[in-house]
Formats: sequence, C-alpha cells, structure tokens
Amino acid sequence: MSGRIDDLLSRMTWDEKLGQLQIVFRPNPDDAAALVRRGVGSTFWPPSAAATNTLQRVAVEETRLGIPLLVGLDVIHGQRTIAPIPLAQAAAFDPELVRSLAYLAASEARSGGVTWTFSPMADVSRDPRWGRVSEGFGEDPLLTSLLVTAMVQGYQGDDLSAPDAIAATAKHFVGYGAGEGGRDYNGADLSERALRTVHLPPFEAAVRAGAASVMAAFTSVSGIPMHAHRRLLTDVLKREWGFDGVVVGDAEGVANLVPHGVASDVADAVRQSYAAGLDVEMGGAPLALTADDLAPGRLDPARIDDAVRRVLRMKEALGLFENPYVDPTAEITAPDADSRALVRAAAARGSVLLHNDGILPLGEPRRLLLTGPYATSTDHLGAWVQFFGAHAGSVADELRARRPELDTVIEEGVDFLSGDDAGIAAAVEAARGAEVAVVLAGEPSALSGEAASRSDLRLPGRQEDLIRAVAATGTPTVVLLVTGRPLVVTDWIDEVAATVVVWHGGTEAPAAVVDLLLGVAEPAGRLPMSFPRSVGQVPIHYAHENTGRPAATGGTLTAHHHDVGLHGPGNVQDKYTSKYLDLPLGPRFSFGHGSGYARFTHAEPRVSASVFPADGPGDETVLTVTVAVTNTSDRRGDEVVQVFARDVVASTTQPVRRLVGFARKTVDAGDTATVTIPVRREALALWSDGWTVEPGAFELHVGSTLETTRMVTVVAE
Ligand code: NOJ
Repeated sequence: MSGRIDDLLSRMTWDEKLGQLQIVFRPNPDDAAALVRRGVGSTFWPPSAAATNTLQRVAVEETRLGIPLLVGLDVIHGQRTIAPIPLAQAAAFDPELVRSLAYLAASEARSGGVTWTFSPMADVSRDPRWGRVSEGFGEDPLLTSLLVTAMVQGYQGDDLSAPDAIAATAKHFVGYGAGEGGRDYNGADLSERALRTVHLPPFEAAVRAGAASVMAAFTSVSGIPMHAHRRLLTDVLKREWGFDGVVVGDAEGVANLVPHGVASDVADAVRQSYAAGLDVEMGGAPLALTADDLAPGRLDPARIDDAVRRVLRMKEALGLFENPYVDPTAEITAPDADSRALVRAAAARGSVLLHNDGILPLGEPRRLLLTGPYATSTDHLGAWVQFFGAHAGSVADELRARRPELDTVIEEGVDFLSGDDAGIAAAVEAARGAEVAVVLAGEPSALSGEAASRSDLRLPGRQEDLIRAVAATGTPTVVLLVTGRPLVVTDWIDEVAATVVVWHGGTEAPAAVVDLLLGVAEPAGRLPMSFPRSVGQVPIHYAHENTGRPAATGGTLTAHHHDVGLHGPGNVQDKYTSKYLDLPLGPRFSFGHGSGYARFTHAEPRVSASVFPADGPGDETVLTVTVAVTNTSDRRGDEVVQVFARDVVASTTQPVRRLVGFARKTVDAGDTATVTIPVRREALALWSDGWTVEPGAFELHVGSTLETTRMVTVVAE
C-alpha cells in the first residue's frame, strides 16, 4: 500500500470517503461539476479532452484533498474507429486480433481523457434471444476466457499510467448471460457447477489478466441479486481469487434491489451492496440519502475504507495523481488510415462462411443486383457505440466507388422491419436481369445490445420473403447477414448459393463486405455461437451433456403411438431418446462452424504425450496436439484448427465435447503448415468442490469444425 493512499485515508472525512464510492452520469457539465465539487470521485466522460480537463480541474483544485477523478465510459468495440462487435471479434478465433483492437480503442479513448472502460463483457451466453450476446464472445467458456484475457491486456497494457492504456472492467459478474428465457435483466437459477464451469471462468481469467475492475450484474443468481451477493462478490471474487481492484455496480443496479424485492428502500439497498462487496455505486443512489442513512454505525467503516483504498489504488495506478490532465492537442478525434485498415481487416476476419456452392468470391459479373435493406443502410456500427464513433457508409456506395465499371443495380426490395412487401417485385425483376443477386439482409443495430431481447430469431420484416423470391428467379443468390446475434435461417438457407455472416462490422464494414465479395479478403471465421434451427431449440449449444438416452437421429412426427414395451427398453427405432419430434438433431450450424474460400485437408492429429499426470498445476501444458494442414486450393487462405475434449467416464456427467484449444493459421496455396496447439491441465478438469482432472481416458477431437474432427485418445494417470 502506497504512503499516499494511507495518508489520504487518514485525512479523509466520512463524506469524502463515501464520495469516492460513486460514479455518476450527468450530461450537463454544470451538474457534473457540482457533483464533483460535492466530492463524487468518478464521472462518465464529458465527450472531449478539454471538457474532461475542466471537470478534472474541479476535482483537483476545488476539493479539499484534490483527489483526481476517474473518468469512465463504455468503450466497447472502439472509441472513434469502430471495430466489429465483440461477437464478430470472437468469430475470428484470434486472440491477437482482439488484443490489437482493444489497444486501438484504449489509445483513442485515453487520448481524450477516458481512464476507465466498462468492457470486456465476460458473460457466456447460450441464448441468442438475449440481445447482449452481441457484446460478448459467445457460448464457450474457453474461447470467452482467452478473448477476455486478450481484451484486458489490450486495454491495460503493462502500465495503466501509459498514455494509451485504460482500466478494463470485466462485466457483468455473474450469470447475466443466463437470464431465464433470454429476457434481459432476468434472474438465473445457477448451480455451483454451472457457475464454476461456465459462467465464472471468464471472470477468473480477467482477474488473472489483471483487470482493474469488475462490474456486478443486474441479474439475481439463485435468488440473490448480484449487487447484494456477498458470497460471489466477496468470498469468491475478492477472497478466493484475490481480486484487489474495484467492484463497480451497474447503472442503478443498487437502487434496483428495491424492485428486486430484497431491500426495503434505497438506503437499505446501498447498505446491503457495500456490505456485500460493492466498492463503487453507479447512478447516484447514495446522493439522495441523508447523513443518518449512511452513518458510520450503519455501514462498516472497515469495509468502506477497503472500498476507498481500492478506488484510490486504481487512480494511482492510472498515474492520475501525477498527471490528472490530458493534452487536448493530442486528442484523437477521428480514425486514421492505420486504424481504418485494422478494423477493416478485422471485419473480414470475423466473417463466417456458412456455406458456398462455389459462387463466392464473385468472379467478374457484369450485372450485379444488390438488394435487401443493408444494401444502402449505413447501420453497420453495432449496438454499443457512442454518437462520436466514426460512421460507416453503405455497401452500395462502396461497391460503386471501387468498381464503377460493374453494372450494379440497387433495389432494396424491403425495409428492415415493416410488413411492406411492395418492393419485392422490382427486386425480382432486377434479379432476372442480373448474373448474381446479393441480398444484404439482417437486423438493424437497435435489435441487439441492451434491452433488445427477441422471441423470434428469424430475419425481421419481409426479408425472408425477399430472399426466397430473389432465389426463385434462378439467378445465383448470395446472402450476407449483417447481425448482432445468431439467427434462425432454416426457412431460406437451402435456396441460396452461399451465405456469409458479416455481423455488425463497424466503421469499415462496407469496405470489408466488398473485400469478401470480390475475394480480396477471406471469410474464414468460425461461429462463436450456434445458429439454432428454430427458436424452440433455444438454449442450444454444442457442449451439452450426452444424457442417458442420446439420440442417433432426429425426430419424426407421427400420429401413432409406439408400444413402450417393444420400443422403449430396446429403443429399436430411436424413439425414446433426447430430441424434438419435429426437428433434426442439433442446431442448424454449430459453434465452430465455418470455412473459407481456400480448401484444406488435415493429416492425422498427433499428441506430444498419450499419457499425462492428472495432478499438477492447472495452467501447466500437459500435452500438445499437432496437425499438418494442407491448402489444396489455388488461393492463400486461413484455416482454423479446433481441439475438443471428451472425458469418457467421469464421476459426473460431462459435455459431449468441449473446446480445449484452437489456432488460426494462414497458409499459401499448395503449402502445408504444421499447427501445434497446447492443452492445459485445467482445460480437462471438472468441478467437484474444486477443480480436478480425474484419471482415465480423454478423447481429443481435432478438426476444422466439429463435423470434421478426427479422434486421438489420451489418458490421465
Ligand atoms: C448498463 C449496462 O448493463 C452496462 O453494461 C454499462 O456499462 C452501464 N449501463 C453503463 O453504461
């Protein structure tokens, strides 16, 4: 503990301490300044370096102790240069990419005076109805953990006081992605096992990576709202994991304890939250309370001192006591060529080719139809951007600017949401005269993100009708899906020649889309979340348990009863197995699905050790998996190799497969590359009152996607 913090603490009044334990959002600069003068220790960013300095000057020069402000902001996937949404970044299966995008965001944000971002979102979610899946890294705990680590490192670097570093926040701790029914803010009943194996690991990874803060979730977990969850906030996060940073509340999450029904009033809510382990309230609930409400007798002074220390430590680590101000002449207010190039490459890198009959990349079509609402829409940034993020253009403008010689017809056909299908006829007419029809369909950004759950996962409005009508002309049809979540594509996908998921790709999305269409870039990402066949399958994810009755085939609807005696015990017709009667097995496209324009073959995978010690440190690499991949096509391309494990016999039921490692590799046409993937002990462990690798066999399934894996068995002894 630094002398400065001890000294400050010894001189602070009770009110000054409580002031440090709040962050407020006040768009009016005078209101914000008044609260800072009152001693509030953190504010949201007033959107410029100059305005930040003005506010900071109030803290430094007009408060008794001159403690500088923390300036927070949701920098989620870019500050000025907007990168693809996090779900799209996850699809790149490339931690280095995530790190460099976070670094770009940090340098732009810090140059304007932001010191604290509320990112990354570490919530694992298996429910695409939940709009916030756009902000996370998908359904898999390992992929999410690795990308959370990369993002924290990209934001924070090695030294938070550097002019290109900001403090990261892993959010929303914990279980926010598991809300019942996919409805935002909903509660989740989560067993210890679900918490330990699915929801907590990405947060533990963030803590290990040195994340400066963690945000409490709006969710209640097994009946206790997270803002009052002492066991998880204090016992697990702070004590068990040794987290010494700041636990910040979500916006009004403390006051929300009243409607949650666990606090009698806001004063009770504030007291419960700080007692549970919250350090900073977001929203201003304590401001309306009386001195008596929050008197030392009603809050534990030692707990308050601990919270204040955490806040002051963060301010110190950010170098704010030495350098509270930011140089307004160095503020980055717009993208430059390098930042544009990075997010453009990222948007292509995270795109996922769902299927392709060979039409992509487009050759040299003379007459091309661009249709669908995303042909001309500029809504590519995604759900979580601020008004000052650099806007995107449209795909139509980009294509016409780059390839003026092409005869490009633009006919949107339908808009995003309405039931108006009057324009479909014109699109169909144009499709008849085109060599290729490209349908740019999707969800506008407002349909994902916070408070944007959907009960229907098909394309909204009449977009599916447009796709079917255009495809029915016989003109080869390509669909590009611009989306913030997995969609149900069942009703049209078999009618089109190729489909690429391009997500909400950010400032340079249109350029990346044109790169993909023309083959300047490869769409070699993989799905970070399964695309369900129907919303009724949700939640559906690849790492499910086998059940005692795994199904071998999909279901059949029949009006006839089966004789349980004949068909049950022997299960001769796969009747009594775990499935839906009205669906084939599994999602339409599983986690990990995708390919590229280049083609690859894989040799048999090899392991460095077929026997490894079950006991030992979790982070120790117990074996490596090596596979030679050959690019058999005539173009350079990327291959993703995924390694899944199955614990064959364990003391508790285990996932049929779970990701334990992956790598993405660029390989020249005709070349063979050797890909080596380390597997850590902890990736093979199961939770049973602690992490343990149980002795016995593990199947390792290695391949380009889950459908194309080859198996090698290893044994833990
Ligand atoms: C509410 C969101 O849940 C959270 O992610 C965000 O950081 C805060 N609002 C602040 O904007």
